[in-house]
Amino acid sequence: MATVTSATVAIPSFTGLKSSATASKSTAAVRVSSPAVPKLTVRASLKDVGVAVAATAASALLASNALAIEVLLGGDDGSLAFIPNDFSVAAGEKIVFKNNAGFPHNVVFDEDEIPSGVDAGKISMNEEDLLNAPGEVYEVNLTEKGSYSFYCSPHQGAGMVGKVTVN
Ligand code: CU
Repeated sequence: MATVTSATVAIPSFTGLKSSATASKSTAAVRVSSPAVPKLTVRASLKDVGVAVAATAASALLASNALAIEVLLGGDDGSLAFIPNDFSVAAGEKIVFKNNAGFPHNVVFDEDEIPSGVDAGKISMNEEDLLNAPGEVYEVNLTEKGSYSFYCSPHQGAGMVGKVTVN
């Protein structure tokens, strides 16, 4: 009975050793291959990030060519201002004035403070026209180089004025 018991004990312990050896072997095998897998994964994801960065840069470039600059009408803090209120663009670059806060606003170029030969009426909103809804935009392309001053007619007295230099 005691022999049987020891034999019974011995067999499982052998099996246990064997299986643990197999287990550690397979663990070792996994360990060997596992550093390689994460490395590949990291490389792949870095590649993806690189592609994403390149794509972002490309779209930013496209955006800067096609859509240049956005000027907010009214500050988030409630200030009656163009944000930014002094900026530069390339000739022909689109300027998008976007209603943000404190509206109604508009965008009127000062006929006395734009390059000679430029028709203020063609680049301005009418004094009476107002952007009333949030996100509403007024877009303009200035093709003549020089300095242009503009204002918001309802808020000019409150200092809602701006200047753009076209290069
Ligand atoms: Cu305004």
